[in-house]
Amino acid sequence: MRLRSIELNLPGAAEAADFLTGIWGLAHSETGSDGTRYLRGSGPFPYLVALTDADGPSIRCTSFVADEAVVAGIAERARAVGWPVQDTVSSDPGGGAGILVQLPEGEVFRFLHGASEVAPIEGRDLPIKLTHVVMNATDAEATASATEKVLGFRVSDRTKGMVFVRCNNSHHSVAFARAGHSSLNHIAFEMNDLDAVMRGIGRLRDSGMVPAWGPGRHGPGDNAFAYFVAPFGAVVEFSTAVEIVPDDYRVGAPDDWTWPKNRIDQWGISDKDVAALAAAERNFRYRPLAV
Ligand SMILES: [Fe+2]
Repeated sequence: MRLRSIELNLPGAAEAADFLTGIWGLAHSETGSDGTRYLRGSGPFPYLVALTDADGPSIRCTSFVADEAVVAGIAERARAVGWPVQDTVSSDPGGGAGILVQLPEGEVFRFLHGASEVAPIEGRDLPIKLTHVVMNATDAEATASATEKVLGFRVSDRTKGMVFVRCNNSHHSVAFARAGHSSLNHIAFEMNDLDAVMRGIGRLRDSGMVPAWGPGRHGPGDNAFAYFVAPFGAVVEFSTAVEIVPDDYRVGAPDDWTWPKNRIDQWGISDKDVAALAAAERNFRYRPLAV
């Protein structure tokens, strides 16, 4: 199972695509017949972000690719617990078929099998792929444990603020923030190395943007990070080198991840613009599946 892409609806898809390709570092992949902009990284996925014009911001879905049997198992378990499930054939680049599943707080995940991939492209400042997507949740604990039971995901760590969940040996591909509401928290892009993260920060500074948080290095997952509020309203993150964990990784508890006073990451060299991040983390909501 791999996290592949996120599909967003928003006003000003063209301007958002210009930011993500011109400044952030993604490459244009293709434009769909409905005008959807598909943006790719250097890796084998045909796109990482889809942007479709709409009246307001919302998340169409978050897409994963897996074997057919894995998708079938998720469909069966999701239907058994009464989650809305919709069979789907993807018309996005790469195609594939599978299901759309609505999680308890309205999060829509898409699981595809048979989706095609593309030849990687060169570019030291191209993000490689999405490394994680974080959702705000009213009950992060309940949502995370539901993903274990129904989706086959596994909780890697719990902190005061989040529950980190993996769907392969990467420490987390998804996390649920204990936010008190449901929305997109942020989208994280995997960069080649720490230098690529730092050059990314420089590129955004050239455009007058400063990090809302970072550079820094997280505790859980051990990944380096820099967060920005994108002009189209979402929080986006440059990240690199998230921890690869063994099957028997010991699930950490909040008490395992405490910091000294005034410290919230391993380096402690940057301030966090809590207000700007909190506001942006409310912008993209889920739209319920029509089933
Ligand atoms: Fe993150």
